[in-house]
Amino acid sequence: MYQTVIKGVGHFLPDRVVTNRDLESMMDTTNEWIVERTGIQERRWVEEGDGNTTSAMGVKAAKMAIEQAGLSKDDIDYIIFATLSPDYYFPGSGVLVQRDLEIGTAGALDIRNQCSGFVYGLSIADQFIKTGMYKNILLIGSELHSGALDKTTRGRSVSVIFGDGAGAMVLSRSEGKGGVLATSMHSEGAYAEELAIIGPATNRWVDQIIEENNPEDPTYRPYMNGNFVFKNAIVRMTEAIYEVLTKTGKSPENIDLLIPHQANLRISQMVQRQLKLADDQVYNNIMRYGNTTAGSIPIALSEAVQEGKLKEGDLLCLAAFGSGFTWGSALIEW
Ligand code: UT7
Repeated sequence: MYQTVIKGVGHFLPDRVVTNRDLESMMDTTNEWIVERTGIQERRWVEEGDGNTTSAMGVKAAKMAIEQAGLSKDDIDYIIFATLSPDYYFPGSGVLVQRDLEIGTAGALDIRNQCSGFVYGLSIADQFIKTGMYKNILLIGSELHSGALDKTTRGRSVSVIFGDGAGAMVLSRSEGKGGVLATSMHSEGAYAEELAIIGPATNRWVDQIIEENNPEDPTYRPYMNGNFVFKNAIVRMTEAIYEVLTKTGKSPENIDLLIPHQANLRISQMVQRQLKLADDQVYNNIMRYGNTTAGSIPIALSEAVQEGKLKEGDLLCLAAFGSGFTWGSALIEW
């Protein structure tokens, strides 16, 4: 068996900054409400015509990760793309990245695990590398939320949270020690509709949409049972972190850096409290970017690396929770 190491990380955020004050002019909300309940001060939203599709943002983050890895695009032998907001209904966005980066005919897998998509992707990549199937896997988490959000007062409890952006990682084969030590993946489909966009999809096909002719249909927009999701996120992320710690004989005080999925600063703080972690053991950037679902962990990781927060041998923990419900974690020796 080989080990999986992280060779490079990258991220991309669109230039357009949308502050809480900007949102005040679109809907009945306040900067104070958003900061107090979520910790978010601003987020990035793509601008019409700026070319920043989900796959295009993924490509930009991927280029940075490949360069940091000291590899060329031709070294990539598999692509995993995590998103809940793909460019097209089908095909997935992974093949678009493969085409735009001109990565030969490497396989491209799209995964649909929303906020946990990146952690799921990391676990899948780790299995492929450990068994010797692939050498260098490009993993991308990219999200373009702003196009689907209801930016009126009706949609305020959801739309103030979400932002656009992408992050990427190159995972590579190693014959040494360290790297990915353990991962976990879980789901609970009983709550599938508690955080979802129900239509348009096969439960409401195109003919039916045309016949109903109702652009105000709320099922076209994201729905979230906020309180319920909030409580589950704290419990499940904490559980998932303990799971990978237990698998590796470690405990919370061994963690050098925890990067929780950036869902809500209050969720991150409560998970931190449950694990009794100090402030410098946890990295958050939701204040600047909002919740970028599958993009949130790799964006935060890439920024943490740029800020010099990780040194060789450090124990890095990633944990995510989101729609599905799905959740998972990873423990990595940096
Ligand atoms: O990415 C993974 C999945 N997502 C999450 O993990 C998010 C989890 N949930 C949350 O972060 C929080 O539940 C929210 C931030 C979405 C909402 O915060 P909350 O403290 O749970 O607020 P609430 O939904 O209980 O609403 C409290 C009040 C309501 O008014 P009333 O009924 O008390 O008069 C809402 O109508 O706040 C109102 N409200 C707002 N007011 C101003 C809801 N959204 C807004 C808003 N601005 N944007």
